[in-house]
Amino acid sequence: MTPIRQLPGIQPEIAIAAIPDDERVWVPQAPKVWFRPLLLNTVTGSWCNLLRVRQSGVLSRHIHPSWVTGYVIRGAWRYLEHDWVAREGSFVYEPPGEIHTLVVDEASGGDTEMITFFNIHGAMVYVDEAGQPTGYEDVFSKIDEDKAENHKLCTLPESSIATQTCIAAVPDLVANCRSAEMISRLAVRASAIPVTEAFET
Ligand SMILES: [Fe+2]
Repeated sequence: MTPIRQLPGIQPEIAIAAIPDDERVWVPQAPKVWFRPLLLNTVTGSWCNLLRVRQSGVLSRHIHPSWVTGYVIRGAWRYLEHDWVAREGSFVYEPPGEIHTLVVDEASGGDTEMITFFNIHGAMVYVDEAGQPTGYEDVFSKIDEDKAENHKLCTLPESSIATQTCIAAVPDLVANCRSAEMISRLAVRASAIPVTEAFET
């Protein structure tokens, strides 16, 4: 069989266990709230992650300038602003402009924790009761959070990301890391290769 010739510049695919065995891979985000980054795409400004919230955890009120989709893997949760509950197996679509506050509590079923896959585009803008912005998250802030947490697992030279060098091509760095899987995710940061450069062979 003739092997398929991939286009030049294509980044390595990612095929990993979404829920990690290593607890340290979960990045703390807020009290009783963690995220587990899966894809941090600086080309599209989007990211995929698991969100884990344990009971009485709150993901502060926020607005999405763009759309979000989610799939509940474990547990149940709700938004204070709506009367529905997202349960295990639920699909959720959050339209652009939606404002909500995510909670895991007795009213959502009393589960001790929920884990949901979210695909987020653009940003999450945190707002106060008057709807005024108080902070934001985007793919770059998620990378910074991931890097900060990753530094607890291994030392990742700043230059390996800033220069857009594919981290996967630095074997000694990967070998020295206790979580090569996390490095492979950070390598997606390197996908911001200019199109013209990507097609030069
Ligand atoms: Fe949201």
